[in-house]
This record gives sequence, structure tokens and C-alpha cells, in this order.
Amino acid sequence: MSAEPLEIHLEQQDLDRGLREDVRVGLAATPKWLPPKWFYDARGSELFEEITRLPEYYPTRAERAVLAAHADDVAAMTGAKTLIELGSGSSEKTRLLLDAFTRHGDLGTFVPLDVSVSALRSSTEQIAAAYPGLRVRGIVGDFTRHLDRLPTGGRRLVAFLGGTIGNLLPAERAEFLTAMRAALETGDWLLVGTDLVKDPGVIVPAYDDAAGVTAEFNRNVLRVINRELGADFDVDAFRHVAVWDPRREWIEMRLRAEHPTGVRVLDTDVVFAAGEELRTEVSAKFRPEGVAAELTASGFDRRAFWTDPDGLFGVSLARAD
Ligand code: AVJ
Repeated sequence: MSAEPLEIHLEQQDLDRGLREDVRVGLAATPKWLPPKWFYDARGSELFEEITRLPEYYPTRAERAVLAAHADDVAAMTGAKTLIELGSGSSEKTRLLLDAFTRHGDLGTFVPLDVSVSALRSSTEQIAAAYPGLRVRGIVGDFTRHLDRLPTGGRRLVAFLGGTIGNLLPAERAEFLTAMRAALETGDWLLVGTDLVKDPGVIVPAYDDAAGVTAEFNRNVLRVINRELGADFDVDAFRHVAVWDPRREWIEMRLRAEHPTGVRVLDTDVVFAAGEELRTEVSAKFRPEGVAAELTASGFDRRAFWTDPDGLFGVSLARAD
């Protein structure tokens, strides 16, 4: 089957409005910040795919190992008819789940949801070609806003992979999981991937690789703002920084102005002092028992928790109670 046309729940004008709002608020704040979803234009999505292949970036390989070992368990335990993937990107690891559902179970529909039209267009076409008989309905949307638009009926499994839940701050995570539970029926399932707390000596290089791909990915957000909002960031004035926060157990990506610089954006002049930083991403790392507690607090019951052999990355399978 060929992929169905993408369902657009996020029009270009919504994206523009969202970006303008985030830039207006984030650049006026102290310290300055921007949410990570704006990394993912076509180039940003490609850079992220490149990151997943870097020697230092262990999360993708570790999660793939978990899914390779346990996708059959996921298919058997859930018996899902519909697989929904939030923040699906390339859906590359999701194929392990689709393969398992092909071996047993009768999954009929795959629904990837992502903010990136370009990533979704190529992933839906590739998945539809590789899995004949599977209905593929791509949704252009934002997983923090469009959970009420997910398809209903039949037992559903929602997959939220890659550790992307770690991009949400703790309060946002609680809100997200509660909204997720509200969007599901009792007996539906959630599969969530979480990068685990470990030696910062392993985490920091994963977010500050020797080849500088993550630095380019980080700076790409400035290019997105320049293009979409007609801003004039001097991209080369900013250096990529990755900082581990031991108290909050998350890594932050920041862009540090190497020398005083300014940007004109949305009819406003914003100045950066030398050394001033713009926070562009938080990527939280988790403890196994912490994930279970957060799931329980929002109405889920964790029925399985798997890690890769090195204990780097965890995948939780939880039932909506
Ligand atoms: C796509 C959010 C899971 O947090 O590890 C990779 C994004 N940022 N390198 C992550 C990312 C820098 C990634 N997620």
C-alpha cells in the first residue's frame, strides 16, 4: 500500500505563530532559551539522523538493542491493532516493532506523528513500501498539543522512543503523561524510551561529538529563525556548549556568544553579551524507578522495563489503567 496523504494538524501558519511566540518569549527571558522542536527543519532532521550514527551518541544504538531483543514481547503483550509513534522522525527503529507485529499479531495501522513534514514524508513512503498491507497515516503535529487528534478504536500502542520525553521539563512531563493517559482508553499501551543516568563522562561526549555534528545541529536553530522570521543571527558568533546538571540529572545544550553580538528579530533588537548563553535543549536522563513512579502518577501501570546489556538506555511498557 502507498502511504496516505499526510494529515496536517499543524499548518505552516501555526508553525510560524508558534515559532514567533517562542522566539519572542525565549529571547526576552533571562537566561535566554528556545524549545528544541525548532531544530527540526529538513536540514536539522538530517543532522539529527547523522547524530544517531556518531560513535559517541549511544542512545540510538542502545535503544535499538532493546527493541531488537524485546519487540516480540511488545507485540505479544499488547496485541495492538494500531501503532502510533510520537516524534517519529525517520521511524528507523520502529521497523523492529513493525517486524514483530508482522510475525505475530494483527497490526493494521501505523500512525507516525512529527513536526517535521520532510521527515514524515520520507518515512511514511518508505514504511508503506516496506510493509505492504499496513495502513500508514502520517500526522504532521506536535505531541504536546495534538494528542486529542490521535485515531481511536481498536487496541492502541503509543510509542515515544529515543528518549525524546527527556526534552520535557519535569512539570511538562507530568502534564504530557496525564494528557497521554486521557487520550487513551483503559487497556491501551504506552512504550516509552528513556536514556538512563550514567557517568557524565559518557553522556557529555554524546552531546558534544568530536566531528562537530551536534554543534551544527544546535546552531541550525539560528538558521531556522533567520530564514523563517527574517532574523539576522551571526551564526558563527555562537559556540556549541553541552553541560551536565548533576542535581537535575539532565544535559543542556546551549549556544554561547563568543563575543558581543546582536540580532534583529520580530522588530526587536536583542543583544548578547560576550559569553552569554541561549539554552536550546534539555535532555533529561532517568532512573528506572523514577520512570515507573511518573507513569503510575499519571494512570499507567508499568508492566515491563528492559535495558540494553550495558544498562545505558531503558524502555518501559506501560498499560493505561
Ligand atoms: C531526539 C530528543 C532524543 O535528546 O538525545 C541529540 C536530541 N540533541 N543530540 C536527545 C539530541 C542533541 C535527542 N532527542
